[in-house]
Amino acid sequence: MQTALRSSPRFRPPVPRPPDQALPFFTALWKLVDNPIEAWPRAVFEDPHYVRSDNQRAFVYVTEPEALRAILLDEADAFPKDWMFERVVKPALGEGLLTAQGEHWRWQRRAAAPAFRHDLILGMTPVMTRAAETALERWRTAGEGVSFDIAHEMTQVTFDVILETMLSGGEGIDIAETTRQIANYLESLGRVTPADILGWPDWARQALAPKGQKSVRYMKSMMDQMVRRRRSQPPRDDLVELLLQAKDPETGQVMDDGLVRDNLLTFLGAGHETTALALTWSLYLLASDPESEARVLAEIAAVAGEDSITADHLEHLVFTRQVIQEAMRLFPSLPIMTRMCDRTVQAGSLKIEAGSYIFIPLYALHRHRALWKDPDVFDPDRFAPGSPEANRRFAYMPFGAGPRICIGATFAMNEAIAVLATLIRGARFGHDSRRFIRPLVRISMRPEGGMPMTVRRR
Ligand code: HEM
Repeated sequence: MQTALRSSPRFRPPVPRPPDQALPFFTALWKLVDNPIEAWPRAVFEDPHYVRSDNQRAFVYVTEPEALRAILLDEADAFPKDWMFERVVKPALGEGLLTAQGEHWRWQRRAAAPAFRHDLILGMTPVMTRAAETALERWRTAGEGVSFDIAHEMTQVTFDVILETMLSGGEGIDIAETTRQIANYLESLGRVTPADILGWPDWARQALAPKGQKSVRYMKSMMDQMVRRRRSQPPRDDLVELLLQAKDPETGQVMDDGLVRDNLLTFLGAGHETTALALTWSLYLLASDPESEARVLAEIAAVAGEDSITADHLEHLVFTRQVIQEAMRLFPSLPIMTRMCDRTVQAGSLKIEAGSYIFIPLYALHRHRALWKDPDVFDPDRFAPGSPEANRRFAYMPFGAGPRICIGATFAMNEAIAVLATLIRGARFGHDSRRFIRPLVRISMRPEGGMPMTVRRR
């Protein structure tokens, strides 16, 4: 196991303190809508489970690894994705891979899997490195010490990568406009509202979010055009082609244009903002911990010298990977997963009744007092090979677990390592330590108001 001799204390990023007790109903409702992680009482971070009930059902927060194993793996068929998730995500992503259930999900997963073969993903490394180098160039042109919203900058980098690698360059897609429309969606239709918690009908929540509906129309029409264009063009070697040609070997079912579109929006949506956030939080943490930053730099020099980062370097950038893993522990891009319980199940020490609503609060799981030493402290060494905290499958799962684990996990990790290494070697990032960065949940966990950082040439 690797240990580090440090000359300065480890960085503890300031975050909101959980309330000591459950909040009163209306305060909790308001908090759940404003920023759910601030509604979770301390018990969610300390106990193996926490239950809050209303007249109709129990809301069960689970952080016990054995229970999570039952929910996500051993008894996964009893825990489908829930109605709240569907209400929030389906208007944009329809019946694609992220939202579909049962057999309809299974064959789509099989159809998309070949695009994520390990060797193909490794072959995409030059695109990832190039996207980071382009960002460095852009910042150099702007001048020394200029401040950028790094969250926005990282979104641009990962958007470029997903278009280039999965959608053959994504011709016809206006990146700036699409990013704006996605943000609009997440701020309106794409978030849980009081209407959802109070069980209002779907038409009511739609009617209250005209901006979100406009964004959905924009994104669907953009992808519909791409699908139509591609149907009339010669075949290419990318994810779009795989989906256009997909056929369920058991039923012979093919994807119609609507389902191809839903999936392309799914891969575009799920496949860039999440990685951008992992990079944003990593850069913030490194800027606040010069000793870890120096170790990353030394590792890059030892592994790659002056060369651009290539696929061969990735597995040797061990500490760089640990930094990203630790950033996703403290600030998981998707901080909450949810499920329904279809039948009563004994999960670890917990009996979950049919009809319960399950919260898997990754943000609290990753900072759980019983599972982690100094849980709020940034310490990439906890993921060093052989460390007791590394590789605990159901205590750490930024990509989920079980059959519905993120299909893009390897892609995302490779991308994050290649981009982070390229950026850290090329530039020095500065963050004003007096500024409080509030993690805010809008499906994903983003820094409220962006992540302003100065960039200087290294
Ligand atoms: C740091 C980056 C990423 C994080 C933290 C992340 C996280 C997750 C998580 C937690 C899930 C499981 C959700 C659940 O079970 O309820 C998931 C599913 C998914 N992710 Fe990712 N993801 C990342 C990057 C990507 C990328 C790069 C792609 C595609 C290129 C992608 C595509 C998907 C898809 C399609 C699913 C649904 C899989 C299924 O249900 O079969 N993700 N992701």
